[in-house]
Amino acid sequence: MTSEKDTVRSQWGSKFGFLMAAIGSAVGLGNLWGFPYKMGKSGGGAFLIVYLALVLLVGVVIMLGELALGRRTGKGAVEAYQAVSKKFAWVGYMGVAAPFLILTFYNVLGGMVLKYMFAFIESMFSGGANFANIKSGAYFGAFICNGPDMLLYLGIFMLLNVVIVMSGVEGGIERFNKYAIPALAVILVGLAAYVYTFPGAEKGLDFMFRPDFAVFSDPEIGFFKVLKTAAGQMFFSLSLGMGVMITYGSYLSKDQDLSREMYIVPLADTIIAVLTGMVVMPACFAFGLAPAGGPSLLFVSLHEVFVTGMGGFSGSFVGFLFYFLTFLAAISSSMSLFEVCVAYVLDRQVRKGKAPRRILTTVVIAAVLFVVSLPVALDGLGSNVAGGAAMNSPGVMLGLKKIPMAFDCWLDFFDMLSEGVMMPLGSLVMSIMFGWVVGTKFIADEVALTPGKELRCRGLVDLCFKVIVPVILVVVLWAQLQEFGLI
Ligand code: PHE
Repeated sequence: MTSEKDTVRSQWGSKFGFLMAAIGSAVGLGNLWGFPYKMGKSGGGAFLIVYLALVLLVGVVIMLGELALGRRTGKGAVEAYQAVSKKFAWVGYMGVAAPFLILTFYNVLGGMVLKYMFAFIESMFSGGANFANIKSGAYFGAFICNGPDMLLYLGIFMLLNVVIVMSGVEGGIERFNKYAIPALAVILVGLAAYVYTFPGAEKGLDFMFRPDFAVFSDPEIGFFKVLKTAAGQMFFSLSLGMGVMITYGSYLSKDQDLSREMYIVPLADTIIAVLTGMVVMPACFAFGLAPAGGPSLLFVSLHEVFVTGMGGFSGSFVGFLFYFLTFLAAISSSMSLFEVCVAYVLDRQVRKGKAPRRILTTVVIAAVLFVVSLPVALDGLGSNVAGGAAMNSPGVMLGLKKIPMAFDCWLDFFDMLSEGVMMPLGSLVMSIMFGWVVGTKFIADEVALTPGKELRCRGLVDLCFKVIVPVILVVVLWAQLQEFGLI
């Protein structure tokens, strides 16, 4: 027998709860290790202007489109597209496949963050003994080639995700984010203030913000590269093109004002991205470390800042706080990706007349995911068997050396497929769907269901979906495929 609770679709418990969950999804590793570095390398203030323009002209409307699609259909990615038109169902499938692939590496990274968090707790109580006599780079290198350790922390991180996601939308995801996101903001502001007590910190701000319009005409970088970098970063950072906002939108009630949330989530994400940059970059510069991006920023440069730069108990404590904050950001994003996959299966169960079985579904998906994540966790992030890892990278295993950048390691390979190809392609098709096939009336009608609200600037929204977004996405997709060596 199915109780009413089983068949009624989940909903957010409060407007604030939805906002925290959506912001939690947006704020993640992308903000922490992508944004400040890319900004610094791509023109500082000049990059920021391009980024903000993209958020306003592209991010905001795609956010609105996804939330409206989810709320109107009351379904996750696949069934939402199906409900609009069978022709677009494949985009929905891509919107589930991409989060699954992202999770294969996002969880591994989340596990690595946990390991560092625990290591700094240990360091607080052992007087730094666990980091003594080993350089940050060597510590990191040893960890990523230590298969059992990588699997252990991946397992713990996934288990935490499972517990939250199986507790439901309101009881798990919303409850976690309601506390985690405000906590994250408080820690972030505290750390930013603390970092400024160190001499030389201001050089980090200079690296990040100094407007350098010459990059636009720089033969090495150039305007299109800046545009592509900013656009790719923006999509990933706002969790767009992955079915996440469709799924989260499907749990919204009609009294949540979409015409406001479409701005609030991107605004909050951007503020947090800039703020994290204001912690990370000054910290590196104050201790004379060259700015980096990606894993080496998070796990090598910053580790060195805390262990050798700041040092002592306070260094360990600040290190712990920093990785705790990173953990909150990572898990609030990974659970949203997880929820997309779970919601897809639950929707199917309901369509087939069965009662949705959230707990079982969550556990089964996690088990499959764990298996697919194995190569990501075990190839030593591209160190390969020769470098001490348990498995080889896809380039070696599949013999596809012609596409060097994407096949260096499994993480990059899965990232290329998901973030590199599926995400821009999915968003491109969605904007064409709203711009040219279904029409933006679909969205405007949905916004107007909230009493007293309407979609303003319809002409501009139309123009965005019809022309601006598709043009930018074609550029991104093209640049992306070229970078991967696929065209
Ligand atoms: N927005 C997250 C980040 O910045 C990552 C993410 C992408 C989450 C896509 C969900 C969907 O790290």
